[in-house]
Amino acid sequence: MKTILPSRTSSLARLNRVLSGKAFDNARFFILVDENTYNHCLPRLIASVERLQESEFLEVPVGEECKDIAIASQLWQTLLDSNADRNTVLVNLGGGCITDLGGFVAAGYKRGVRHINIPTTLIGMVDAAIGGKTALNLNGSKNQVGFFHQPATVCIEPAFLDTLPDSEVLNGVFEMLKTFLIGDPVLYGRLCQMLLNGTFEILHDMIASCAEIKIAIVKQDPRDLGTRRILNLGHTFGHAIEAYSHQNNQKPLAHGQAVGIGILCALYLSVRKLGLDPAILDRYRTVTTKLVSLPHYTLRDTKGILSYMRQDKKNAGGEIRCVLLQEQGAPVIDLAVDENEIRDALLKIS
Ligand code: GLY
Repeated sequence: MKTILPSRTSSLARLNRVLSGKAFDNARFFILVDENTYNHCLPRLIASVERLQESEFLEVPVGEECKDIAIASQLWQTLLDSNADRNTVLVNLGGGCITDLGGFVAAGYKRGVRHINIPTTLIGMVDAAIGGKTALNLNGSKNQVGFFHQPATVCIEPAFLDTLPDSEVLNGVFEMLKTFLIGDPVLYGRLCQMLLNGTFEILHDMIASCAEIKIAIVKQDPRDLGTRRILNLGHTFGHAIEAYSHQNNQKPLAHGQAVGIGILCALYLSVRKLGLDPAILDRYRTVTTKLVSLPHYTLRDTKGILSYMRQDKKNAGGEIRCVLLQEQGAPVIDLAVDENEIRDALLKIS
């Protein structure tokens, strides 16, 4: 996999060079978009990447709704009706939903064609577009069906962030905090300081460093059998908190914000179970409180959240498993946490 990281020269110009190379000689490009990326990102892509000017477009609904087998099936049919052969290259232009769906469709079509991810959200640039995980939802249950299928190229162009509202950028900030907590204490400190100062503009070199940390982790464990699971810090709590906020018809939490709160729970338990320095928990709490209002959970809420946590894919032997942190840069995977500990964390975070 080739990753085009942000640097002083435009990522899209470098993508054009890659696509003009021998490896893509006979390629036929299809660009997968949703309404947002069709309107706000596609014109910039086409204007900068000459090689994509003859592409065909495939448009799907915005958001999680597109991660559906019926939509994947329609896309396969469209490719087939267009006589798309094994030289087809699917260019996924969008956030995590588009890259999850597009990767899935590419993995299945003719037993696997190439795909290129061009993430347009911060969460996509630092996490979702990298690493070859593809996914669809099944009857409302997130990411239950998917393949590992590595993209041929990932092109990270931070200019696309200009098309996003701040709330969407914030989602990605929590994934960056997570990656730096597990992978680079110095950058973690720098990002925290920026957020505390109210400097919301995320630096391009930070996006590049964050993506590089993820690439290095995926390289060690591409099929998520061990080490890669450190990327799930805060996610066992986060996914359940997100699902519960939707079910409960409170103001639904976005994925990144729920993960942000989930990381807080994981750090709380890390202090209790692994002796993490409480100052790290306090600092993270201070940063998070600036970015998102922390929920005040009741015992009834903890019951609802726990029921989602029991369904988590990472559980084994009937136990709920989490990633916790021994110290910055030293995560521990697959730690069993009991329901009293989870309840305690949820009640104490705010
Ligand atoms: N988003 C976590 C992973 O790619 O493994």
